[in-house]
Amino acid sequence: MPVQRRGAAVEISELRREYVSGQGSVVAIERVDLKVAPGEFLCIVGPSGCGKSTLLRILAGLDKQTSGTIKVDAAGWPVENAMVFQDSGLFPWMSVETNVRFGLDTRGVPGDEASRRVEAALKLVGLTKFRKHYPHQLSGGMRQRSAIARAFVTDPGMLLMDEPFAALDAQNRVILQAELVRLWEQTGKTVIYVTHSIEEALLMGDRTVIMTAQPGRIKQIIDVPFPHPRDLLQLSASAEFGKLKLDIWRVLEEEVNRARAELEQ
Ligand SMILES: Nc1ncnc2c1ncn2[C@@H]1O[C@H](COP(=O)(O)OP(=O)(O)OP(=O)(O)O)[C@@H](O)[C@H]1O
Ligand SMILES: [Mg+2]
Repeated sequence: MPVQRRGAAVEISELRREYVSGQGSVVAIERVDLKVAPGEFLCIVGPSGCGKSTLLRILAGLDKQTSGTIKVDAAGWPVENAMVFQDSGLFPWMSVETNVRFGLDTRGVPGDEASRRVEAALKLVGLTKFRKHYPHQLSGGMRQRSAIARAFVTDPGMLLMDEPFAALDAQNRVILQAELVRLWEQTGKTVIYVTHSIEEALLMGDRTVIMTAQPGRIKQIIDVPFPHPRDLLQLSASAEFGKLKLDIWRVLEEEVNRARAELEQ
C-alpha cells in the first residue's frame, strides 16, 4: 500500500540565523531555501556545527531566525512538542504515561480525550505495558520511543527529529529506525530528520539535504529512489544503496574536511 501523505507542507525562504555574543558573531545558517512536501520524510546531513540543530529549533519555534521566512500550513504551528532530541528529554520525575500526556494537559485537551490519545500513542510505540515506569527504569531505546509517543500524541503536522537514535547501540538503532519508518508509513506525517549517518538518511528518507560547513547552506539535495514500504535490512545490503551512499559521502567529505580545517585554525 502506498503511504497516505497527510502532513504539513513547509516552505523556507532565505533563512539566516546569526548568533551574537561576547565572543563575536557566528552565522549558523545562511540563505537556506527549502520546500518540504506534505508527508515527506526529509533527512538533513552536514558536518558538525553547520546549523542543523539551529534550523530544527527555528522550525519548532524554540529559536528565532535573524531573517527569512518559514511557512507551515498546519494549524497551531509551531509546536515545541513535535521535536525529538538525541537524549529523550523526558521529565525524570514523571512516568512514561504522564510524560506523554503532558503536552495535552498544557493545551487543555479534555481528560477523556487526552486519555484516549495517550493510549493510542503508547500503543503506536509498543509501550503500553511500561506506562507506569519512570525514565530511569527504561532502556535507552524505550526512552526514545516514549519521546516519539510524546511527539505524536499532539498530532502535529510534522515531526522534527534531531539525531534521535544517535546515542543508541547499533541493534537498538536498527530496530527503532524500522519502527519509525513503519510509523511514518502508517501516519503519513511530514518528518524532518537530522542525522550524521548517510546510511540512516538513505534508509529512511525520501530526500537527503546535504549542508555545507559553517555557515550552513544547502549544498545539494539528493532524491532517494527506493520505494516504500521499505525493508531496511534488505535495502542496506543492496548494491544500489551502497553506490548512493558512496556518492553522498563524496559530496559530504569535502564539507567535513572544511569544517575540521576551520576548527584547527
Ligand atoms: N545559542 C547559541 N549561541 C551562540 N552560538 C550558537 C548558539 N547555538 C548554536 N550556536 C552556534 O551555531 C553553529 C551551529 O550550531 P548547531 O548546533 O546548529 O550545529 P549542528 O549542525 O547541529 O552541529 P552538530 O552536528 O554538532 O549537532 C555553531 O557554530 C554553534 O556554536
Ligand atoms: Mg546538532
